[in-house]
Amino acid sequence: MIQLAKSENVETVDSDSVETVDKADHPVASGPGTPSPRVLAIANQKGGVGKTTTTVNLATAMAATHKKALIIDLDPQGNASTGLGIERSARHLTTYDLLLGEATLEDAIQPTIVPGLSVVPSSVDLSGAELELIDLEEREFRLAAAVRRAQLHFDYVLIDCPPALGLLTLNALCAADAVLVPLQCEYYALEGLSHLVRTIDRVKRAFNPSLEIQGVVLTMYDRRNNLSDMVAADVREHFGDKVYRTVIPRNVRVSEAPSHGKPVLVYDWRCAGSQAYIHLAREMLRRERKAVA
Ligand SMILES: Nc1ncnc2c1ncn2[C@@H]1O[C@H](COP(=O)(O)OP(=O)(O)O)[C@@H](O)[C@H]1O
Ligand SMILES: [Mg+2]
Repeated sequence: MIQLAKSENVETVDSDSVETVDKADHPVASGPGTPSPRVLAIANQKGGVGKTTTTVNLATAMAATHKKALIIDLDPQGNASTGLGIERSARHLTTYDLLLGEATLEDAIQPTIVPGLSVVPSSVDLSGAELELIDLEEREFRLAAAVRRAQLHFDYVLIDCPPALGLLTLNALCAADAVLVPLQCEYYALEGLSHLVRTIDRVKRAFNPSLEIQGVVLTMYDRRNNLSDMVAADVREHFGDKVYRTVIPRNVRVSEAPSHGKPVLVYDWRCAGSQAYIHLAREMLRRERKAVA
């Protein structure tokens, strides 16, 4: 069995009608009294575990159920921006400008092909931001301040984190209400998870007392592979109810969609991957409603 060290402080812790929309359909500014959106960081320091795929498709599924969503692309690779069809030449104001205080969140927001879903794109400049931020005041809170200052007409803000636990991810964890952890169903999945949990714990103590793990979502599940089941069972043993019942299957349509600049829900909403993200969004919204009640 694959085990997380027990001694470690582990917390048990209808989209086919998509059309091009213009910015007028994505109002961001509003008067006082706008309720704050719920901010989720999608984080795991391992690369290739499904963070970006989950961010893009969960947000798309939310938008399809009339929850307005904003994705903040905090990875210099800009895969979320690319996967949403935002050309590099169209990324005028980016998360880099936001963190450096050169743009407001409202100004950096762009519409996407999905009605109700907007994005703040990233650019390669962001890879230098960690160094540039070091000497700035409140370097951990640059993103939190930008989100707090903005008047946003969104229900959810999803932050797509880079595959590292550096200053960029730290900014996401300080800006977030909660963390969603995608976990790939493979042998080394649990390696590093305890490190992530400890980091979240430290951020909670030092910077953001209300931060919590919102959930763990198992990705790229392969039902022909016993290992997927073993990993899933192990993760459920450690994280209990935090683990979503919905599991995202490995599905080729999911991996094809980004090269078309579309969420898989737009590319092929009937495929198993799309259906799983619709279920995940439903389960998440149900869980969130329960948490509030
Ligand atoms: N459910 C899935 N089925 C098949 N391929 C997937 C699935 N989820 C993600 N992928 C592919 O795996 C790769 C890594 O996913 P990605 O979301 O970019 O991970 P991360 O953001 O954690 O680095 C991408 O090529 C993506 O298209
Ligand atoms: Mg990514």
